Amino acid sequence: MRALETVAACVLLLQATAVCKYLEVVQIEDKNYWYELGKSRLQNQLKKTMNFNRAKNAIFFVGDGMGLTTVTASRIYKGQLNGETGEENYHAFDLFPDIGLVKTYNTDKQVPDSAGTATAMFCGVKTKYYTAGIDSTLPTGECDPELYEAAKVDSLLKWAQDAGKRTGLVTTTRITHATPSAAYAHIAERNWECDGKIPSEYQGCMKDIARQLVEESPGKDINVVFGGGQKQLGFATGDDDSCERTDGLNLTEIWENDRKAEGVSHRFVINRGQMEELSTEDKVLGLFGLGHMAYDLERDTGADGPPSIVNMTVKAIQMLQRGENGFMLIVEGGRIDHAHHDNFAKLALSEAIRFEEAISAALAMTSRDDTLIVVTADHSHSLTMNGYPNRGNDILGFAHDEPDKPIYETLTYANGPGYNVHRKNGSIDSDEYLWNDPTLMEDRDETRYMHFAPIYEETETHGGEDVAVYAIGPQSHLFNGVFEQSYLAHAISCIGKFGPNPTLCSNAPVSAKSTSILIMAFLYILNRLI
Ligand SMILES: *[C@@H]1O[C@H](CO)[C@@H](O)[C@H](O)[C@H]1NC(C)=O
Ligand SMILES: *[C@@H]1O[C@H](CO)[C@@H](O)[C@H](O)[C@H]1NC(C)=O
Ligand SMILES: *[C@@H]1O[C@H](CO)[C@@H](O)[C@H](O)[C@H]1NC(C)=O
Ligand SMILES: [Zn+2]
Repeated sequence: MRALETVAACVLLLQATAVCKYLEVVQIEDKNYWYELGKSRLQNQLKKTMNFNRAKNAIFFVGDGMGLTTVTASRIYKGQLNGETGEENYHAFDLFPDIGLVKTYNTDKQVPDSAGTATAMFCGVKTKYYTAGIDSTLPTGECDPELYEAAKVDSLLKWAQDAGKRTGLVTTTRITHATPSAAYAHIAERNWECDGKIPSEYQGCMKDIARQLVEESPGKDINVVFGGGQKQLGFATGDDDSCERTDGLNLTEIWENDRKAEGVSHRFVINRGQMEELSTEDKVLGLFGLGHMAYDLERDTGADGPPSIVNMTVKAIQMLQRGENGFMLIVEGGRIDHAHHDNFAKLALSEAIRFEEAISAALAMTSRDDTLIVVTADHSHSLTMNGYPNRGNDILGFAHDEPDKPIYETLTYANGPGYNVHRKNGSIDSDEYLWNDPTLMEDRDETRYMHFAPIYEETETHGGEDVAVYAIGPQSHLFNGVFEQSYLAHAISCIGKFGPNPTLCSNAPVSAKSTSILIMAFLYILNRLI
């Protein structure tokens, strides 16, 4: 029997969407409960109106690898961490008024990678697996100057800069990694993050991704750049397994000198304490890890350590809100994907929860009148949620406890390195029980415990089914439907009156309604309390 009741706190957003949090009161989930719940949700849906404002600001949140199974499982996990059964919980973006589905295939792959999907999301052009910021006409991993020039495609950040907006790029991965790279670079091979990774015959044709960030437009003109990648930018060396520069360039020094030459206020920072001191600088660069930033559960939370994705999002919005023309910000929760690749389900769900908290923080700091917020994933993963655990069962636990059936986890992967830890030693040539008994594995509670995978892959694969897109704010109704992933860049820029179709979308003036700020502040507090 459930001990939760709905009447609860339902907060009406401007677009008449209610965000409800269920307060704990003893009540059985009988028919009255479901009738009440149905009625109150209907009442809220009936108040739904369209918002025809143009967007002064846009924030594009990308949960890397945050497929629907990850959304559901992290929603349950977050509820369970709060002492609830979990299934009834909502993520902040679950209650956005407009939701669609996105087809993620690359032009040459049924199941995509992040470079190709990021090019679709950020540049409005689908392209090939492993390439970013170019269309499908340039051969992968090659460079010919004429073909290269012709293949380049511009991103949301470039379009926004051309329209006089401030721009920001925030990620928890290396800032030169596949997804963020598509926002500023044009590259025929996503691994060309450092100069030495480019084959010598192409060195004169194409710059590495890190150099493109610092030396080329739009990278050098981005106002707020936060992520990892100290090694790729030549600021530091270390035994992290990512690439290192061989040309001896110190790109953070070059970045600082170029800003000085431009005469703009600027600062380069490397930890949370320094990041929090930022205030009125026009351009800031923050590199918070040698390579990728630490997983949030493993983060040094001291001032000398890296900031959380929530801290970075809050600071980026503060820095971008100064300025008359509005801003375009991209925030990537980049390590949901990495945790999945290692079958680290607990880490992946934890990263997804932190990503969701960054979205809540952004909602609290902005108005539905003038700020479009879009949340999506670049692609899914091979994660599955198996039957039939009982209601409220630990989402990281076992799906059943029936003694006459093999015990398995609720969350398993179709492939990945978890195969090795679950395969019973010596069983390959035997008819005996092939797998270790997972209930006897002593590291099950650990952060880096690998969930089961029946096919060995060194790194678990992405999944190819549609991902969701959630939108709130001006003209969010343009996100209802099933879309090619490339549509997202077109819709976001159109609503913001910039990019390839600056006059196509509604241009209703933005009317300030101070109440929306109050509602969002209340929602934010509520979210923290419950
Ligand atoms: C690179 O330049 C930064 C200043 O931007 C400096 O703090 C750092 O020590 C330099 N790194 C190396 C390896 O020279
Ligand atoms: C940084 O974020 C963490 C949560 O991730 C929060 O506890 C902390 O207060 C934040 N710090 C600042 C200065 O916002
Ligand atoms: C299984 O074998 C591997 C080496 O092949 C070893 O590292 C591991 O400890 C063994 N596990 C058990 C449970 O015996
Ligand atoms: Zn991936």
